[in-house]
Amino acid sequence: MCGITGYVGCRDASPILIEGLKKLEYRGYDSAGIALLNGSDMEVVKKKGRVNVLESELGKHPFCARLGISHTRWATHGAVTDQNAHPHVSSDGNFALVHNGIVENYEDIKKFCQSQGYTFKSQTDSEVLVNLIAYHYEKRTDPNLPNRFLEAVRKALVHVEGTYGIAVISRFHPDQIVAARKGSPLLIGIGNSERLVASDVLGFAGRANNVIYLEDEQIALVTKDNCDIVTICNKQIDFEVKSIDWDLENADMCGFSSYMEKEIFEQPKSIENAIRGRISSDASTAVLSGLNMTPTELRQIDRILFCACGTAWHACLVAEYLIEKYARIPVDVEYASEFRYRNIPVHKNTLVIVISQSGETIDTLEALRESKRKGFRTLAITNSVGSTISRESDGGLYQYAGKEVGVASTKAFTSQVTICLLLALYLARMRDMSFSDGKRIVEAIKSAPEAVAKTLELAPRIKEIAKKYAKYKDFLFLGRLCEFPLALEGALKLKEISYIHAEGYPAAEMKHGPIALVSPDCPSVIFATSDEIYSKLLSNAQEIKARNGKIIAITDNPEIFSASVDDIIALPRVDASIKHIVAAVPAQLFAYYVARELGCDVDKPRNLAKAVTVE
Ligand code: G6P
Repeated sequence: MCGITGYVGCRDASPILIEGLKKLEYRGYDSAGIALLNGSDMEVVKKKGRVNVLESELGKHPFCARLGISHTRWATHGAVTDQNAHPHVSSDGNFALVHNGIVENYEDIKKFCQSQGYTFKSQTDSEVLVNLIAYHYEKRTDPNLPNRFLEAVRKALVHVEGTYGIAVISRFHPDQIVAARKGSPLLIGIGNSERLVASDVLGFAGRANNVIYLEDEQIALVTKDNCDIVTICNKQIDFEVKSIDWDLENADMCGFSSYMEKEIFEQPKSIENAIRGRISSDASTAVLSGLNMTPTELRQIDRILFCACGTAWHACLVAEYLIEKYARIPVDVEYASEFRYRNIPVHKNTLVIVISQSGETIDTLEALRESKRKGFRTLAITNSVGSTISRESDGGLYQYAGKEVGVASTKAFTSQVTICLLLALYLARMRDMSFSDGKRIVEAIKSAPEAVAKTLELAPRIKEIAKKYAKYKDFLFLGRLCEFPLALEGALKLKEISYIHAEGYPAAEMKHGPIALVSPDCPSVIFATSDEIYSKLLSNAQEIKARNGKIIAITDNPEIFSASVDDIIALPRVDASIKHIVAAVPAQLFAYYVARELGCDVDKPRNLAKAVTVE
């Protein structure tokens, strides 16, 4: 939610900031803005719309500066307008600030600032921060203090409830950026006589090879050659500098027409990366050293609780089926946002596993923290190396799927469910799964990248089907067992990027409500790859046909279904253990082609953001 970039160095700041913002647009794209400093001259340009709107506006106001901050917004408080775009400037004109997060006590702070003579131009919660900082600078800090700017920000933040990643500049300190974080990610990139600030390494756009991850309640004073960090309690911090692996962060479109398309077609590779080094054919099991748990500790686990949001939550549901089926360990799946506030009873030998592509989703992060406070052992499955969730969990497994930029998650999902299958296998082989069953699953997992590559060859056929169905306004997605989460995920993909109403349901439950929607105007997509229940799914298909509903079947058994459905997406036959990986792909392609047919912006669907760092 909202992307921040900052630059201080020897080069023209504005193109560097814009380049960084473009890489962070996945975090929000309602409006964008920039504040530049040249000596004590400050220039602020902000516009409703995407970063390229800001860029052309900037072209009309060339302003050379070696320091600046910028922002791309996902609106929380205040409508999408030029006024509400960041940066916000203090009413005395001396400070500019960009903010990611929510200031929960903004009304109290606003009243206080107004009582001190500060005025407001926007409806945002963020503007209160910049006026509070101006007040503390003016009234609450010693003018002779060497780090007066940092100290003013620190003193202001003591009064803030809520979350923030902020970058602030001041006309009085033309060589400094002050950056702070609580709950929203913020990183400092170290270049050669230049420093960058960003919400994600991508914002550095390849300009820094080393990074400092700010922790919660840390405040940094950043100059072109230095970085000083203190806590909100004014304790000096010895920070760690980490190197950035740009290979993993590669985010070019590589000739595809969108990131989403590129990421769908990258799945053979991302699944391969999820598997690499994690299989022992000799022992017929998975090798998951990142868990940081001994086999003895893992055997003591008698319940697993998964927490996540969005697509990652669907991956958790797949994990529930796999772990219960293979390892016979009871699994619960909670929405992270619910878990935080429900205080559910959790058995003492419970392992808590969170799944998050970005590793920054605030609800998932807080669910993780709450689990740790309660003393549970925690693991994280994340894609973003060095993310807050990956750093704060007791152990974890990286997805190594490469950066996912498209807002609708695709390759991250199949990578997450692949890792969950590895986990199920690992836990199962420590319990009752035989060597030979383990061997069958190991071989199946090894074949998954190839099977997904074959499935991707269906793209032209799926495109045709998508063209035929793009005119409909409502869809049902149906599946049973492990394919019920795929139905939820298929419906989510279609909703997210084409704005078509779609519902995912367990196929048999359809009779208890959704069947009322079935009509020639509401097609159904049925996942049908479970050998045990082909006949049941066939009955569900007949029930829909009897009501003149149209059906697309995603199945590996076209012979059985062809007479009962309108269109078939015929999957390659694979081992039962990896069917859910293969069957996920056509639903992604279907949503993608429908959205393209409707002319939607698939990478930046309206109202959404890729990393949700506000509650
Ligand atoms: C947002 C994204 C989804 C994603 C969800 C959870 O809603 O648009 O694609 O599944 O957040 O994100 P995470 O990074 O925690 O997996």
